[in-house]
Amino acid sequence: MTDQAVQQEWVRMPAAAADGAACNASQYEAMYARSIEDADGFWAEQAARLDWFEKPTKVADWSFDPVDIKWFEDGKLNICHNAVDRHVDAGNGNRVALIFEPDDPEGEVRHITYAELQGEVVRMANSLKKLGVAKGDRVTIYMPMVPEGAFAMLACARIGAIHSVIFGGFSPDAIAGRVEDCESDWIVTADQGLRGSKKVPLKANVDAALEKVPAKGVLVVSHTGADVAMTEGRDHWYHEYSADVADECPCEPMNAEDPLFILYTSGSTGSPKGVVHTTGGYSVWTETTFRYVFDYRPGEIYWCTADIGWVTGHSYIVYGPLQNGATALMFEGVPNYPDHDRFWAVCEKHKVNIFYTAPTAIRALMREGEGHVAKHDLSSLRVMGSVGEPINPEAWRWYHETVGGGTVPIVDTWWQTETGGIMITTLPGAHDMKPGSAGKPFFGVCPQLVDNDGAVLEGATEGNLCITRSWPGQARTVYGDHDRFIQTYFSTYKGKYFTGDGCRRDKDGYYWITGRVDDVINVSGHRMGTAEVESALVLHAKVSEAAVVGYPHDIKGQGIYCYVTLNAGEEHSDELMGELRQWVRKEIGPIATPDHLHFTPALPKTRSGKIMRRILRKIAENDYGSLGDTSTLADPGIVDTLIDGRMNR
Ligand code: WTA
Repeated sequence: MTDQAVQQEWVRMPAAAADGAACNASQYEAMYARSIEDADGFWAEQAARLDWFEKPTKVADWSFDPVDIKWFEDGKLNICHNAVDRHVDAGNGNRVALIFEPDDPEGEVRHITYAELQGEVVRMANSLKKLGVAKGDRVTIYMPMVPEGAFAMLACARIGAIHSVIFGGFSPDAIAGRVEDCESDWIVTADQGLRGSKKVPLKANVDAALEKVPAKGVLVVSHTGADVAMTEGRDHWYHEYSADVADECPCEPMNAEDPLFILYTSGSTGSPKGVVHTTGGYSVWTETTFRYVFDYRPGEIYWCTADIGWVTGHSYIVYGPLQNGATALMFEGVPNYPDHDRFWAVCEKHKVNIFYTAPTAIRALMREGEGHVAKHDLSSLRVMGSVGEPINPEAWRWYHETVGGGTVPIVDTWWQTETGGIMITTLPGAHDMKPGSAGKPFFGVCPQLVDNDGAVLEGATEGNLCITRSWPGQARTVYGDHDRFIQTYFSTYKGKYFTGDGCRRDKDGYYWITGRVDDVINVSGHRMGTAEVESALVLHAKVSEAAVVGYPHDIKGQGIYCYVTLNAGEEHSDELMGELRQWVRKEIGPIATPDHLHFTPALPKTRSGKIMRRILRKIAENDYGSLGDTSTLADPGIVDTLIDGRMNR
């Protein structure tokens, strides 16, 4: 690269961004160094911003071989107290905690103060108790993007119940699987959700799921007012059921290592795993990362466009912002309803200062042209973030220039469900940026790149991304299957946490995530296991075998490409293609809808019967020149058949 090109890689931090910032460049260097050299001292200090019922005397106690991770283990606290009550206790009860912007732009906006939030959470908590929910019980939350979803999460945390939030786009089968896996007897849902004026039949989906697995009680929030079926003795309208509950409910003192929530996420094999986060470390991690990464200042309006069904919603709509006493906007709708300017209209309407979204949304809006942005006054924006997948430099620049007017720092935050919070990012007042690079490790994070044999790669290089030290927000286990936790994350490279991502580190120590190196794909920022889509496909009576890979997609980042072989005697047709698409939607949910179905008489297999996915990925990418060694295939001729099939559509 020429010097000039290298120069152009950088986008300088606007000088004003450092004024009053939570962390400037020299502070970052000093704080990062201390977070490694004196990790216990550093994290004890961060933890001290929270209220503890019993202050921890121990900070970190962990090992990655054998795997045993504890933080603040003898401390007692409650994240709901830190997110809600302590702000009220401090006299900030009138501050707005949540702003609700409904799907319909003409609909009723809600401003919920911290004092009101406390009342709502207590009401929900006491309703859960009335149902019979006790500390340690699992509660499933299947909600639209309405404040009651956050109330339900905080209510669980308040009474020490473990929440398992399921994204509202998942199917009844997916709900049933998750409810069964964590033996959750209770569900909080709503009659319906609304997305782009379309109704999502949440309660009906729960009913269908509960035909497969039992539940003791379902609380139903009335949102659209739809007339939904209610099962006597099991289902209760929340507004009726909560009418007579007490208006006090103390926060349960939780041990720092007591589980806070389970969140199901996809891996390279098997069904989704219930990733478990515990109370103390997660509280400290989300409070600290939110504070430094978004550089939140009192009075500012912060908006994260994620759904509470994903980890981004957990950490950066609910727990991170609220622990910081921030005002967080919750948006029910979608970026393109009623028009492609909705995000910008909402930013203008609520004078949003900090905006956090996903590359897939940026790319989709970029395609619709600048006009939609230009219509709105976006001068309130001060920090903008990106999360969920690699952002291509073109989309980054559009975001920076067209949305941010070239003056707003961007934080491209790399992290995962398992990491609990942000791991690699620039800080708005500390770092120059490079479009497409997440940037530098957050405090306490030690990234390491290794080759496929586990050899450590130094300096400017590319490899598999591992993390060598524990951090407070790290997941502790997979619910009900600790061996799977160890196998998935700590066995590929012994003694290290393996992220599943590929990554490049440049000479400036900036990290560039290149995407997953395992069989996980990232579709519109949603993580999906190819194995899950395969299992759904082979459940269809006409399908014999299926192999699913990701392929580049302009808007979604990756699309879902399915190779399908049919049972003998079955003919492929456009009709069957439509049927299989519907089938996968029904089995998993609309987010798993195949983008491309490729019927083939056979899959490329080695003599021992292993599918050579590398070849399938290349063909899906239309990259036939570098298929590599195909001589180990049982039938090398299948490669040409597959290429023909790819080119003829
Ligand atoms: C990807 C979402 C590049 C990555 C918070 C990771 C990213 C997976 C970024 C986790 C980013 C997330 N740049 N890639 N800024 N953020 N990813 O568990 O592949 O839904 O492993 O957590 O998303 O997805 P998850």
